[in-house]
Amino acid sequence: MRMYDIIMNKRKGNELSKEEIDFAVKGFTEGEIPDYQVSALLMAIFFNKMNKRETADLTMAMVKSGDEIDLSKINGIKVDKHSTGGVGDKTSICLTPLVASLDVPVAKMSGRGLGHTGGTIDKLETFEGFSVELTEDEFTKNVNTINIAIMGQSGNLVPADKKLYALRDVTATVDNMSLIASSIMSKKIASGADAIVLDVKVGDGAFMKTPEDAKSLAQEMVNIGNALDRETIAVISDMDQPLGYAIGNSLEVKEAIELLKGNGPKDLLELTLTIGSNMLVCAKKANNVEEGRELLLQNIKNGKGLEKLKEFVKAQGGDTAPIDNLDLLPKAKFVEPVLAEKDGYITKIKAEAFGLIAMELGAGRATKESEIDLAVGIVLNKKRGDKVSKGDVLAYIHSNGEEKIEKAKKDIISNITISDSYDLNIPVIYEIIR
Ligand code: URA
Repeated sequence: MRMYDIIMNKRKGNELSKEEIDFAVKGFTEGEIPDYQVSALLMAIFFNKMNKRETADLTMAMVKSGDEIDLSKINGIKVDKHSTGGVGDKTSICLTPLVASLDVPVAKMSGRGLGHTGGTIDKLETFEGFSVELTEDEFTKNVNTINIAIMGQSGNLVPADKKLYALRDVTATVDNMSLIASSIMSKKIASGADAIVLDVKVGDGAFMKTPEDAKSLAQEMVNIGNALDRETIAVISDMDQPLGYAIGNSLEVKEAIELLKGNGPKDLLELTLTIGSNMLVCAKKANNVEEGRELLLQNIKNGKGLEKLKEFVKAQGGDTAPIDNLDLLPKAKFVEPVLAEKDGYITKIKAEAFGLIAMELGAGRATKESEIDLAVGIVLNKKRGDKVSKGDVLAYIHSNGEEKIEKAKKDIISNITISDSYDLNIPVIYEIIR
């Protein structure tokens, strides 16, 4: 088999065979096929697309490029959750213990944040001492005893994706549905879950900017999951404004704890209940999503979700005291209000810009090596649709550097649109694809 012929096949718009896909992925991962030939193939895929079968084969070829996590020693149906990335998205922090409190084994690999989106691991490290460096045995033992463990992604999980992603990034071939879908799904499948609930974000702060594109991506990932015998459900959710009010690590952890105490913001609660109820159905702990929502609400009310968060943080070496006393979470030196400059209705809060402002305050990483400041970020005081008067507080800046405050204020003002009326009807959940 020759790489030249595979490129030519796709260039002509033909369907690639499983053998051709395996050959290209294996050869590239092992360094036998050069970047320039793979770049040409990626561009041919970009223009001529892949069908369902090819996309599933590409996903499996990527899974096979590295280690696969064996979760067979964990009892029950393992359900994973994955978000395509957003701003203020702390859903995993409240959702995973809540679902685990209903007897669903949550065995999750998570990542750190990069760019304008945050990562679950960084947020969890707000609890002093919390570690995601678990051995496979510790991981299995924790899930079997308390139903929940979260660990960092292993170094050799889907190495083909690491190399392909880096190449796509510099050859303008990132935004192809089959390539995105196989990239995400290969990592989920290699992580060993039996079922997967995906949160596909749509809007300004998301990878997919339109509901149509988000739906195509969701459908593509659901097709892959089904083709590989993993029950897969995709929830398409709004990322046209930050999720909840808080952006920044400890600020988001505080909001997630508040949700488990029954005081969560409406949009975060709705998303948590939607994803959570689908996880419960996949795990056969609820007969339908309505029953699932009731169970989740019950475990918020009776405090079992919060107790599970404590158990989970403790089992991974973290200090649980801030869960009871939120004042113990890391705090920034300066908290500065940002005031509205006119009357009206908030019609837009640009999510991506808010992610970047929080990053500049120190909440995120500009490069993989950057250190993050857990205490800093932004807490919105108003959301889309709210009526405001001149002088009302729009948001609070939490900063450890006085010199950063003025620029953050200007950026916040210029990324919130206040209009004379509000007639948008943007839902928290657009659609669920099964
Ligand atoms: N996230 C991924 O993991 N891969 C992509 O291709 C896009 C987003």
